[in-house]
Amino acid sequence: MNLTALNKIAEAMVAGDKGLLAADESSGTIKRRFDTINLTSTEDARRDYREMLFRAEGLGKYISGVILYDETLRQSAKDGTKLAALLISQNILPGIKVDGGAMELPGSLNEKLTEGLDGLPKRIAEYAQLGAKFAKWRAVIEIGAGMPTPYCVRTNAHALARYARICQEGGIVPIVEPEVLMDGAHDIDACAETTEFTLNETFRELQLQGVALEGMILKPNMVIAGKKCPKQAGIDEVAARTVATLRRCVPSAVPGIMFLSGGQSEADATAHLNAMNKNFRPLPWKLSYSYGRALQDSALKTWGGKGENVAAAQKRLLQRAQLNSAACAAKYMGEAA
Ligand code: 13P
Repeated sequence: MNLTALNKIAEAMVAGDKGLLAADESSGTIKRRFDTINLTSTEDARRDYREMLFRAEGLGKYISGVILYDETLRQSAKDGTKLAALLISQNILPGIKVDGGAMELPGSLNEKLTEGLDGLPKRIAEYAQLGAKFAKWRAVIEIGAGMPTPYCVRTNAHALARYARICQEGGIVPIVEPEVLMDGAHDIDACAETTEFTLNETFRELQLQGVALEGMILKPNMVIAGKKCPKQAGIDEVAARTVATLRRCVPSAVPGIMFLSGGQSEADATAHLNAMNKNFRPLPWKLSYSYGRALQDSALKTWGGKGENVAAAQKRLLQRAQLNSAACAAKYMGEAA
């Protein structure tokens, strides 16, 4: 593997207070998002939506890379330009989701194991040809009665490390995403404990399988109470618990930690990131964002599937991206900023 080249890409992903736009919703997930605006998820509708996002002028000031779904990486804009080329023209790196989704973990009660390793080296080679510089694989860990089991966490960590090594051998930077879900009624302590166990198991596997930490990005959840927990932690507590957990588990050779938003509101996701950067520097890694919903929610709603709303929707996306980049610089002043 060419570690210098991988490290250069990973550093570029977190350079200049920039973050990632996760626009890699699978066909099932984008359908659920479009349902919220009463739009049928056709290939053209998905193209129009993503073309709207990627043409937002100046997006490259805040966004270093966009995670794409397979269909999008191969898709062209209405005028025939490849959607990935629109990103490159804005100085944004194209990336690709390569996992095959979270499937039932054999023998478990209701846990998931992310699949997609079969044939992955060949797919990675093709994605590299198509211009992808980085990839994403998401493991899903749920907190509940008797969950997660060590079986679930360890099999997912093993798969994440196998994926990461395959990416690196193919010249692509792996985003390693072990997501402890915020669905459920668990408290912040349960999230902290599960996140710590999950990150420790993940890094153990990464090291066992020879993944070069300098050539990867970690995409974790924040340490936060479950959505249905009656006791929600404040912004500073989420920031403190998240940083404490990361400090215990993430080696300093990792260039960047780019959080998922996981169902947090747009404003919370930005405020949490800002508080971490404001209250805890110096830190061994850059702390940035790789948000899906927390960058797109307002833009999707404003767009509503209508051509006449494109400019207004792009403005919403740019606003969120700008605020999250301000949070990377610890300069977010609240929503009115
Ligand atoms: P959210 O920020 O909406 O959680 O999406 C990020 C992502 O890529 C999840 O895999």
